Amino acid sequence: MKFPKSFLWGGAVAANQCEGAYLSGGKGLCVPDMLLGGSATKPRTFLPINDENAFYPSHEAIDFYHHYKEDIALFAEMGWKVFRLSINWGRIFPNGDDNVPNETGLAFYDSVFDECKKYGIEPLVTLCHYEIPWAIVTKYNGFYSRKTIDLFLKYAKTVFMRYKDKVKYWLTFNEINIPCMDAGGIGDLYGLGLIDKDDLNSSEPILLTDLKSDKQKTFTALHHEFLASALTVKMGHEINPEFVIGNMIAHETVYPLTPNPEDVLATLDRDNLANNFCGDVQVRGAYPQFILNYFEENGIDTSFIKEGDAEILKEGTVDMYTFSYYQSHCVTVKKDADKVNGNMSEGAANPYLKSTEWGWQIDPTGLLYTIQSLADRYPGVPLMVVENGMGAIDKVEEDGSIHDDYRIEYFREHIRAMREAVRRKLPLIGYTTWGPIDLVSAGTGEYRKRYGFIYVDRHDDGTGDFSRRRKDSFFWYQNLIRTQGEEL
Ligand code: BG6
Repeated sequence: MKFPKSFLWGGAVAANQCEGAYLSGGKGLCVPDMLLGGSATKPRTFLPINDENAFYPSHEAIDFYHHYKEDIALFAEMGWKVFRLSINWGRIFPNGDDNVPNETGLAFYDSVFDECKKYGIEPLVTLCHYEIPWAIVTKYNGFYSRKTIDLFLKYAKTVFMRYKDKVKYWLTFNEINIPCMDAGGIGDLYGLGLIDKDDLNSSEPILLTDLKSDKQKTFTALHHEFLASALTVKMGHEINPEFVIGNMIAHETVYPLTPNPEDVLATLDRDNLANNFCGDVQVRGAYPQFILNYFEENGIDTSFIKEGDAEILKEGTVDMYTFSYYQSHCVTVKKDADKVNGNMSEGAANPYLKSTEWGWQIDPTGLLYTIQSLADRYPGVPLMVVENGMGAIDKVEEDGSIHDDYRIEYFREHIRAMREAVRRKLPLIGYTTWGPIDLVSAGTGEYRKRYGFIYVDRHDDGTGDFSRRRKDSFFWYQNLIRTQGEEL
């Protein structure tokens, strides 16, 4: 069985995790530039000063800034139809509130999109993949201020106007629902540019898991981000009616740990808070009743919802629903269940599933379950899996080859699940794997957590010459695309 010819096969990266060149071409600092690298024994930390002895992996990342031609040629060699990447907001407005955009930054993305065009690859551009300019964090506390909506709109308008004939597919905010998960303060900082004052002024590294979070502020800032997203969608359609603009949800797929009705109800509530709240606001254009109940039960004052906001949300619904899918976990009311983590979320371990080296449970059937549930919830809305993959340690053999059969196995099973979704005639339009070229991990700040079909010679001790080499999975994905998913 084949996927349709129009199916968008490709891969996804984020500027902060691949570009490097963190101050080149007039770029300003952005949130991830303040995060130190982690390791097997040392979790990732936040240090908002430039300590010369510390290792900030985003500063050089995999140097895509200087290697993009070589990298896009490799993507084309695999037969990609689409390349998901983000624009680093800080390259365009280095201080967040500059009067004029930075021409060098704009010219860089012109060249990247031209390079894609050369090979017939459609760019799918995320406007904000955690790259909130650092100056917006320090001056406005990110999206906690309503003023940041205007700053974002100015940025979005600038890039929409500039690239309106080069880019058709857009996403507003990466994983907008992260602040509704268990990530705590890191969800606020990454997703919303929101941080507690004491943490901001710390002169010592702070564990990401220790960053403070205040739910009242989180939901206020998230509301502002919803408005920014909705206004952006509306503006985008006015600039070019051909634009296809989506949201992006980190899908936390959850199952009840037991048939105990209490577990089943807790799972439903979890699904609503973690996934459906943001999905409903962006696809249906209104706050669902369950979240208003949650606010009331948790003492969240909703006065951040101002007159006129409801209309903005209604008029700015997205054209497609996109999501990341890595793993699933269980929900239970039992306090002593074994715990698992994965993609900024936490839950009870599922005894039927195995995990990656980083403890993320591997669940291809969960992907089909997720696609079917979303198709049922949002009838007719095109769906796209814009991140999926397996972080693993790769070994380079003496002859330079990399036999990553574990990665091939992971993809094979997930793509098999998508093939079933297509057979069921669910509106799945594309698939971009996460980190098709090795890059810096967002959660741990490591290089050794590799996702790519393409290996990059760069390591957590700062060594490596940034050279690229094809792994076995590169040739596997190339053949899969060539046969439209028939040869798994
Ligand atoms: C998603 C993000 O959360 O998962 C990516 O959109 C991230 O930025 C990816 O890299 C994988 O997570 P990690 O922590 O393994 O890099």
